[in-house]
Amino acid sequence: MSILAGTMAKTRELAELFSAIGSNDLVRANILARTVAGRHGARGHHRVERDLLGALDAPRSPQNGATAPTNAWQMNSSLMPLRPQKRLAELELTPSIRNTVNELLQEWRARARLSAKGIPRRWRLLFHGPSGCGKSVAAAAMAGEAGLPAFLVRFDSLIGAYLGQTALRLREVFRFAEQTPSLLLFDEVDALAKRRGSPMEVGELDRIVIAFMQELEHAHSDGFIVATSNLPQSLDDALWRRFDLRLQFPKPRKVDLVRFAQRHCKSFGLRPSRPLVIACRQAASYADAEQLVISEARRRMLAG
Ligand SMILES: Nc1ncnc2c1ncn2[C@@H]1O[C@H](COP(=O)(O)OP(=O)(O)OP(=O)(O)O)[C@@H](O)[C@H]1O
Ligand SMILES: [Mg+2]
Repeated sequence: MSILAGTMAKTRELAELFSAIGSNDLVRANILARTVAGRHGARGHHRVERDLLGALDAPRSPQNGATAPTNAWQMNSSLMPLRPQKRLAELELTPSIRNTVNELLQEWRARARLSAKGIPRRWRLLFHGPSGCGKSVAAAAMAGEAGLPAFLVRFDSLIGAYLGQTALRLREVFRFAEQTPSLLLFDEVDALAKRRGSPMEVGELDRIVIAFMQELEHAHSDGFIVATSNLPQSLDDALWRRFDLRLQFPKPRKVDLVRFAQRHCKSFGLRPSRPLVIACRQAASYADAEQLVISEARRRMLAG
């Protein structure tokens, strides 16, 4: 009986997926495909899950891209799809950040049960800390882990020249988040949300911050909204409070940078030279250490 029920559920799932493809609703098809992959992961079939997600995230050929049908996110010029560059397990994170991120994912997986009991989960997140230490890459990796599509909110097309235009576009972005389970990344949100009343800015900025706060407060989403900032002190206090969680990504210690560089060297099949280790130890961020390793790998490869 339960086998029959399982087969019927799978058939229904596939029928929905086919119907989404048939009606050119690629966002929905993507979500359904990720749900199928996630279900394998939940059953402990991590290899299958990884292979399915890998197939889904395979780079598209220009021809495919050119013929891709219009879908929900393409209608919204402020959204740009984001591909996870790294998996969560590949990131250098402090144990406390890793635990917190895992908790958030656990809450996301249990969202239906939590919501049935009226217990809110944490989904409005602010990642802050110095540049190049993993805020953006961690947000995208979280989406990858949850099997959610991720989108970068492009401030250049969000901020309009006319009064009220930005608030309207913000509304559209949040409406998208309400309708499409996804992770929206407001990267470097300080560009949008400087402290209100800042002497350098005039009225429109205040209105944008207020609109953003109102959207954050009243929105609901089956995914995540992640804002990042390396200038948290310039964020409005009221906005700061609107996030369910504020997670600080600290500046890496020398020992972290060396471990990161060694791991990265290994992925290139490179033996870290002493000068490289010394340089990485002094790097300001993981991003800088990564660049040092990549330069060294390139140099050594060209030198044969
Ligand atoms: N903790 C980390 N683990 C692994 N790789 C990292 C980490 N932090 C940074 N990197 C590498 O550095 C690149 C830049 O990192 P990322 O964009 O996440 O920095 P950021 O904290 O968002 O910086 P910014 O504030 O300048 O936007 C990443 O693409 C990744 O390759
Ligand atoms: Mg960033």
